[in-house]
Amino acid sequence: MTTLLQVKELRVYYRTRRGVVRAVDGVSFEVNEGETLAIIGESGSGKSSTVQALIRMFPRNVHLVSGQVLYRGVDLLSLPESVFNREYRWKKISIVFQSAMNVLNPVMRVRDHVSELIQIHTRLSARDGLKMAEELLPKLGLPPSVLNRYPHELSGGMKQRVVILLALLLRPELLILDEPTSALDVITQANIMNLLKRLKWDYKISMIFVTHDIALASDIGDKIAVMYGGQLMEIGDADTILREPRHPYTRFLLESTPRLRGEVKLTFIPGTPPDLVNPPPGCRFAPRCPYASDKCRSEEPPMKNGVKCWLYV
Ligand SMILES: Nc1ncnc2c1ncn2[C@@H]1O[C@H](COP(=O)(O)OP(=O)(O)OP(=O)(O)O)[C@@H](O)[C@H]1O
Ligand SMILES: [Mg+2]
Repeated sequence: MTTLLQVKELRVYYRTRRGVVRAVDGVSFEVNEGETLAIIGESGSGKSSTVQALIRMFPRNVHLVSGQVLYRGVDLLSLPESVFNREYRWKKISIVFQSAMNVLNPVMRVRDHVSELIQIHTRLSARDGLKMAEELLPKLGLPPSVLNRYPHELSGGMKQRVVILLALLLRPELLILDEPTSALDVITQANIMNLLKRLKWDYKISMIFVTHDIALASDIGDKIAVMYGGQLMEIGDADTILREPRHPYTRFLLESTPRLRGEVKLTFIPGTPPDLVNPPPGCRFAPRCPYASDKCRSEEPPMKNGVKCWLYV
């Protein structure tokens, strides 16, 4: 299997009045060609900050970015902005944002969005862009007439398909989706998930799928990465993570998710997520972990064989 993306010790810190927020704090993972990595974790665990860094989207108050994002061996973080824009953004890597449906400009028809994207990012004509869009429409279950519609004329599910269409227009190798279905009803969500699985199959596209929903993660992910307090706690094959979760946090997450099979047993994780301005020393999950020892509370565990926990060192 060829490695497409290799993220090494990624750190993204933000400046705030309260101090420096360590939103992403030493995250490493790989994505192979054609593979889907699902990133799961509670709200505020650093999922969006991680994936936005992959396409070099940083808010104005970013304080520090370090580590490497190697795309076929090239470190995207150290490329000049112009080169990244010209060669990578939308062409090789594209992203569907968390509030994706609101990114469509209400006064522009879908076709205007297509031509704008083509004109900003390529030297192709608007007409070429529309042709490319037309080829993708059936794959996305969209009728050709959608091109002439304004966003307010589309349902939530249609809007989300249009946003995915725009993300796929330049045929990227890596599609990042940040909670793409969280604003949709369950049926529409299921339709979009089926669509993504088909795209993955048809185009052998690699994906990073961010969600806080472990059911969605296991539905689409070949691999699952579990984030907590700005760090990866566990990463591995989806099946293995689901069947034999090792990290206590992963086990809690799984237990707190209603299963399709078996009865529903909800476990609430006691305590609160760490303050990322003053994260606890040692393991970030230690204050909430029933197995924590003194060592856990003082020394940060290494990530070893896909799990960052002193129980497995
Ligand atoms: N621009 C910013 N300035 C300061 N802090 C930020 C900024 N963006 C995010 N944060 C903080 O960084 C941490 C990680 O946020 P992030 O949005 O990456 O988490 P997330 O896992 O995507 O959460 P959610 O599931 O709610 O989308 C949180 O503590 C958040 O409050
Ligand atoms: Mg987020």
